[in-house]
Amino acid sequence: MTALSAFVFDAYGTLFDVHSVSAEAEAIAPRQGGILSQIWRTKQLEYSWLQSIMLSPAAPRDDFAALTGKALDYALSQLMVTADAAARARLVDAWLGLAPFPDAADALASLAPRPRWILSNGTRAMLEPMVAQSSLAAHVDGILSADQAGIYKPSPRVYQIAVERLRVAPENIGFVSSNGWDAAGAKAYGFTTFWINRSGLPVERHAAPPDYVLGSLAEFAALAL
Ligand code: LAC
Repeated sequence: MTALSAFVFDAYGTLFDVHSVSAEAEAIAPRQGGILSQIWRTKQLEYSWLQSIMLSPAAPRDDFAALTGKALDYALSQLMVTADAAARARLVDAWLGLAPFPDAADALASLAPRPRWILSNGTRAMLEPMVAQSSLAAHVDGILSADQAGIYKPSPRVYQIAVERLRVAPENIGFVSSNGWDAAGAKAYGFTTFWINRSGLPVERHAAPPDYVLGSLAEFAALAL
């Protein structure tokens, strides 16, 4: 094991449960809350990748808040659900108060006193209040947004933000993500990578595999790195 002197975590899906919006979604789309949440998340990610590939002066990217709203509009439209402006706003706002996974605080705490940062595609305006009002607040040393690079993960330019801020060589940074595509991007960049594979998905095939595959943040913490 390479000596790890800092840890960088993905936010959405890794520390915070993006499907904790399902109840809010269920209120707007009865019996379809779960599927609405899934289509919404899938489109949000697709749009972030598409806008990164299409990036040009004529096609600037949306920030993650705007892109999340557009992905929601797509998901509502696909399910033929009509939501008025107030209902739409309630759903988008639910993304600002996502619940952390139950094992996230202890996993973060176990890594102290080494720096524990978040590197996310989200905007600081989305991430900072969400972390501050959660049980993770005391265990996160700083938050970095892809906005600083003007493109989304898995662009290497985004992972580079953490190296520049922490001043730690990539291999000495433990990068933790439950998103297989993000773990692959982080590994390609050069981080020592931990994929939190909660739902037993196959490993992504388009890039080198992550260094470690764990079933939960609790299992990750049990490695006692
Ligand atoms: C994040 C999302 C994309 O960067 O998982 O936090």
